[in-house]
Amino acid sequence: MRPTQAPFPATRLRRTRQSAALRGMVRQNTLTVDDFIWPVFVREGEGIEEPIPSMPGVIRRSVDKVVDAAREAADLGIPAICIFPYTGLEERTEDCAGAWDPDNHANRAIRAIKKTVPEIAIMTDVALDTYNINGHDGFVENGEIVNDRTVAALVKMALAQAEAGADIIGPSDMMDGRIGAIRHALEGNGHQNVMILSYAAKYASAFYGPFRDAVGASGALTGDKKTYQMDPGNSDEALRLIERDLSEGADMVMVKPGLPYLDICRRVKDAFGAPTFAYQVSGEYAMIKAASANGWVDHDRVMMESLMAFKRAGCDGILTYFAPAAARILNGG
Ligand code: PBG
Repeated sequence: MRPTQAPFPATRLRRTRQSAALRGMVRQNTLTVDDFIWPVFVREGEGIEEPIPSMPGVIRRSVDKVVDAAREAADLGIPAICIFPYTGLEERTEDCAGAWDPDNHANRAIRAIKKTVPEIAIMTDVALDTYNINGHDGFVENGEIVNDRTVAALVKMALAQAEAGADIIGPSDMMDGRIGAIRHALEGNGHQNVMILSYAAKYASAFYGPFRDAVGASGALTGDKKTYQMDPGNSDEALRLIERDLSEGADMVMVKPGLPYLDICRRVKDAFGAPTFAYQVSGEYAMIKAASANGWVDHDRVMMESLMAFKRAGCDGILTYFAPAAARILNGG
C-alpha cells in the first residue's frame, strides 16, 4: 500500500511572500539610517575635494570640506562619522609624532565638526599607519613591529583625539593591551564618557587595498601586517580577542572586513551580546562599484542587500562608505 499523501503541501511558505505588504510584515531584520557610521578621509589644505581612483565616489577632503560633509551626513540622519587622516610621504616620520599632535588635521577636523555639527558623533582611528614612514600600525625596530612602545604612543594619540572632542575612540592597530591602556588614560584624564569601539577581530586582509591608497599608505608599507592582524583561517581567536577587549574596557566591538566574515559577526553577537559592528571595507566597496560600473550587477540593489546582510548576521551597525547613498534611499529619495 502506498502511504497516503495530502493533495497539497503541508506548509506553504510562499503564502507570506505574496505581496510587498506581507513580506514587510514578516520581515525579521530591517536596515535604518541609524545603523551607519560613515568613514571620511581628511587631508591638509583648504577647499579641496580630491577623488580616490580605487574608491569611486569617495573623496579626500580638506578640513573645511569635511565639516560640510558632516553637515550633510547629519541632515541625512547618519548618527556618526569616522575620521581618517590622509598623509603624504613627506608628512610621515619614524617617530610618528604627528599622530598625537593636538593640531594635526584629523584633530582639527574633530574640533571644527564639534563646533559646527554638534549633533553628529565623531569616531576616530587609533593606529600609527597614517603617520608612520613605513606604513605600519606600530613602531618598527629591527624589522619587528614592537608592541608595548607602540601602546604608549597609541595612548597619547587617543588622548589627543579625546581632547579634541572625539566621542568614540577606534583603536584599529591590533596591539595587545591597548584597550586597557587607553581606557585607563581616558579615565585618568576626565574623559570617562568617551567610548571605545575596539577593532577587536581585525583580519590581515587583502580587502584593505584601496584604503591604503586613500590614506597614502600604499607606497609606504613595507612587508605585511600578519604579525598583528588576525589570520583569515581563525575564528575561535576572534572570540578570545573580543572577550579580552570587552574586559579591558571596550564599549563596542568590531569585526573587519565585513561580508567575508559574517560568520564571525554572528558568533560574536551570540557569544557576548555586546554592541557589534562590522566594517564593510574599501575592497568590498570597490568590488561593488567595479561590478556595477560594468553593468554586471545593479548598484543600489547590491548595496542595500549587502548592508542588510550585516543586520541579519547580528550586527548593530555598519561602517560603510555607502552610508550617504544608502541613507538617501532609506529616506525615500
Ligand atoms: C589602519 C586601518 C586600515 C583600515 C582601517 N584602519 C587599514 C589597515 O589595517 O591596513 C582599512 C579600512 C578599509 O579598507 O576600508 N589601521
